[in-house]
Amino acid sequence: MNILVTAGPTREPIDPVRFIGNRSSGKMGYEIAAAFAREGHTVLLVSGPTSLDVPDGVDFLPVETAGEMHEAVSTHIGRMQVAVFAAAVADYMPSKVAKEKIKKSAEALTLELVRAPDILGTCRSKHGFAGTLVGFAAETENLIANAREKLTRKQCDLIIANDVSKPGIGFESDQNEVTLVYPDRIEQLPLASKHDLAHQLVRAILMLHTEKSATH
Ligand code: PMT
Repeated sequence: MNILVTAGPTREPIDPVRFIGNRSSGKMGYEIAAAFAREGHTVLLVSGPTSLDVPDGVDFLPVETAGEMHEAVSTHIGRMQVAVFAAAVADYMPSKVAKEKIKKSAEALTLELVRAPDILGTCRSKHGFAGTLVGFAAETENLIANAREKLTRKQCDLIIANDVSKPGIGFESDQNEVTLVYPDRIEQLPLASKHDLAHQLVRAILMLHTEKSATH
């Protein structure tokens, strides 16, 4: 099968040397891409900037901004059977990018931010994606309720809910602990290395895809 995975952070430029970013290392998404490839699938990994090596047997499309990630996903989503969105994408980006490095002058500087494209949220509505759609939810409160709201609003088959307020899991860590939020049930997975967890996630996603294909 053709599988799309997004991973890593996005960088939204402020001027030629500064950007708005986040703490995603890309580890979770890269492990998922590697696990799908090990299962014999054709994987396209669309990734923001990370320091990780591209996993063996994975096609790689590096991007920097939410706009670039959106364009890459829009180009390739049509031929995918499964898409997994592990990237930490900016929700807001500067309304304009300064051409020259911003000089230190006034005591305060106000940046105007505008909404960045919701890449996962447009897969069904804009691109008519009919395959198995899996998102993550990185939450610091009301984990399951917020994940369930994203499941519905972004028309996903599964949301992998990540409590990023807990120390030692989530962003940058080598370990993670997540809850699978399906339309009709939830399943809590135990703390595990991102490597081992990715294997479990891939199993769950492939099972979901088989069930979905059988009913369509
Ligand atoms: O990269 P690591 O250091 O290994 O950390 C892993 C992780 C914590 C980044 C990962 O497990 C995770 O939770 N990824 C989702 C981070 C996130 O941005 O979540 P969100 O709740 O803001 O977004 C919900 C979903 O919509 C996500 O699938 C996200 O990829 C997607 N999204 C969000 C905003 C946007 N503009 N476009 C999107 O596609």
